[in-house]
Amino acid sequence: MLHAYRAALLHCLADPTQVPVDEAYAYFEDGLLVVADGKILAAGDASELLPRYPNIAINEYRDALITPGFIDTHIHYPQLGVIGSYGTQLLEWLETYTFPAEGRFADAEHARDIAERFLDELLRNGTTTALVFGSVHRQSVDAFFEAALARDLRMIAGKVLMDRNAPDYLTDTPESGYADSRALIERWHGKGRLHYAVTPRFAPTSSPEQLELAGKLFGEYPDLYMHTHLSENLKEIEWVKALFPERKGYLDVYDHHKLIGPRAVFAHGVHLCDEECQRLGESGSAVAFCPTSNLFIGSGLFDLPRVEGFGVRVGLGTDVGGGTSFSQLTTLSEAYKVLQLQGKNLDPFKALYLATLGGARALYLDERIGNFATGKDADFVVLDYKATPLMDFRLSQARNLKEKLFALMMLGDDRAVKETFAAGRSVHRRDH
Ligand code: GUN
Ligand code: ZN
Repeated sequence: MLHAYRAALLHCLADPTQVPVDEAYAYFEDGLLVVADGKILAAGDASELLPRYPNIAINEYRDALITPGFIDTHIHYPQLGVIGSYGTQLLEWLETYTFPAEGRFADAEHARDIAERFLDELLRNGTTTALVFGSVHRQSVDAFFEAALARDLRMIAGKVLMDRNAPDYLTDTPESGYADSRALIERWHGKGRLHYAVTPRFAPTSSPEQLELAGKLFGEYPDLYMHTHLSENLKEIEWVKALFPERKGYLDVYDHHKLIGPRAVFAHGVHLCDEECQRLGESGSAVAFCPTSNLFIGSGLFDLPRVEGFGVRVGLGTDVGGGTSFSQLTTLSEAYKVLQLQGKNLDPFKALYLATLGGARALYLDERIGNFATGKDADFVVLDYKATPLMDFRLSQARNLKEKLFALMMLGDDRAVKETFAAGRSVHRRDH
């Protein structure tokens, strides 16, 4: 089945920090996106493409910009109910709010309810792919993948591994964590558009025995992910040093247990030393930059150009519930401010790259998602330039695409997402 979508069209072709910015994206003022069987068939100028597809059905959008679906490289679905919790930094925040909320996922019914709400929220914000923490309970991941499969989404998730320094009701053992993860991999990894991530929460909540088995598992299946936290908060880093005195530093704990390399994604990395950045880069690992979380729980300022300078792949993460928004637009607005506070900058095309093709590259999914190259998944979002009276007015003042895109990011959020498509199907319509 062929279908076309007509509006302004914008997608990234390369990293704007690697090539001249105007070679890093393609823009079609009156664009056409042609979709066949859930995949991109063509993207370009409407005037050029329309004669090639004379009888094609067209959805036409006014005052709208179509971009690839957003990619969230770090988020926790069991934390939906504690987003925006007052007054703490990381370790106290985990004990006060997060662990009790995650405890409720022993109940599969609760997990199914939150999984649906969580996916609704992602799609309302234009996010079509995410790398997602479950809870320690294997049924939390069953519930998540069931819900994602029913909507034919490309999603990556895993069961938390946590065998110490957490409440009893939230711990597994090295053996049970390994066996439960394996069972989930067998059931879900590669089904539909789903992928599994081996998910040790962070070094302090896993024994060396558990990390050893996690590393073994990461090497046992092709294309598995590894998803954890790294160097987020200064007290956390001190704690890791005390727990693992025999290791060179925080990253070395994961490195020692073979939890590094392509498809290993480390959330935060706010306080990395040069040697750690070097190792992340040369190993092909990725870091998820989570600005709203880093500001909200007071972790620190991530230095994007510095970390990228070591060749590290960086994606954008919301880190809900430590982060305060599901919106990648809002997250980019905070990313811009985080860099401003360090005397640095975030070009709007680079920002779009982070939320789309850069995220895909961080996840080694750039053959499948991230832009409108022919054959990629038809995951895309229709953004509304007139979402609010202020946006309408402000964007009308913009003199060129760059200014318009920047203002859209600084002011936009879920209200700017008019419609979201996954595998060519409409999965969210704002006005319905
Ligand atoms: N470090 C360990 N667990 C967590 C978590 O749930 N959220 C964040 N932001 N950091 C963590
Ligand atoms: Zn997190």
